Amino acid sequence: MSASDIVPSTLSAEPRKPRVAVVFGGRSSEHAVSCSTAAGVLRAIDRDTYDVLPIGIAKDGRWVLAADDPDRLALTPGHTPEVDDAADGVIVPLSTTDRSLAVLEPGQPPRALGDVDVVLPLLHGPFGEDGTLQGLLELADIRYVGSGVLASAAGMDKHYMKVVLAGHGLPVGPYTVITDKAWRHDPAAALDAVSSLGFPVFVKPARAGSSMGITKVNAKEDLEAAIEAAREHDPKVIVEAAIVGREIECGVLEGRDGAPTRTSEVAEVEVVQGHDFYDFEAKYIAEADVQLSCPADVPVEVSDEVRRLAAAAFDAFGCEGLARVDCFWTSGGDVVINEINTMPGFTPTSMYPRMWAVSGLDYPALIDELLQLALSRRTGLR
Ligand SMILES: Nc1ncnc2c1ncn2[C@@H]1O[C@H](COP(=O)(O)OP(=O)(O)O)[C@@H](O)[C@H]1O
Ligand SMILES: [Mg+2]
Repeated sequence: MSASDIVPSTLSAEPRKPRVAVVFGGRSSEHAVSCSTAAGVLRAIDRDTYDVLPIGIAKDGRWVLAADDPDRLALTPGHTPEVDDAADGVIVPLSTTDRSLAVLEPGQPPRALGDVDVVLPLLHGPFGEDGTLQGLLELADIRYVGSGVLASAAGMDKHYMKVVLAGHGLPVGPYTVITDKAWRHDPAAALDAVSSLGFPVFVKPARAGSSMGITKVNAKEDLEAAIEAAREHDPKVIVEAAIVGREIECGVLEGRDGAPTRTSEVAEVEVVQGHDFYDFEAKYIAEADVQLSCPADVPVEVSDEVRRLAAAAFDAFGCEGLARVDCFWTSGGDVVINEINTMPGFTPTSMYPRMWAVSGLDYPALIDELLQLALSRRTGLR
């Protein structure tokens, strides 16, 4: 099929507002979380300024034209939202001269949907937050919100994330990596390397999110099961020494027109009962077990240090658009970076938007700022 086989849309000839493709769902285990983020964004995005095109990525990876229906996408008790994989397919043109997505209806020639000016990829986890989707959009020469291929990929992989941070002189905790090859060829050596960290340790899939596949392990005999549990999410596993301290997070926004990176007020996540750490249930189900303080009640020296490290981490990766940087304020008084999220939770009640709201940028304004940052960027290498 060539571009000339696609029936042009009448819309594409009309003068129009910037068109935003809101892309959500995806192949990762965070599919439903992504749908619920899309519900929040579709409700809040300014329709007077932007023309909105909701695009779902089904669990099998198929791109479909989704209904503009936030209620169906919301994550509520008893309703786990999912992209409708029977909807009409959407194709992305892999050409620098064509920014018009096309829709495939059964028995019809592909129909052009009109040019897309910017993609808002609301995807978490592998095949969305990890540079793969960003690579597709780079090939298509389409602008998108957030970090590019390298920052997304390195930020997603908790191993390379620490390599990049440490390489920039930023503080990270002790860890060891168990690759698939190492585990299959010499598991005893891998277990010894882990034991040298001391206990407890956190065993994690290198590339996951929402605490999926993470176990806190207190003794060597429980390691193997934890490693196998992490390997269900990712053949690459990272094991970290447990850090005793408070969890302090910071929102980061790219500066406009080359201005310095911006940081929000910091927030604290505290698990008050029922969980060993901030696990999946604490994040999404048993919310009463968690206390979120925004802004965090910490001394100004601590919030300043978290903000300094958050901006430095964002710059170390060459991040664009947005990121949330999560730190530990240790019992010894140091601040250590736990992780960077290049597509943090983004519902109206998620930490990232809440931190910006207390910093003077409410949810609709934050969406607008991210779209403007992306629209003002040139495509290609930068
Ligand atoms: N090294 C560590 N020391 C202490 N707690 C940790 C450590 N690593 C993770 N945790 C706990 O586990 C939670 C999830 O880990 P994290 O690395 O942030 O994974 P995810 O990317 O899934 O959010 C953290 O919020 C924290 O409560
Ligand atoms: Mg985390």
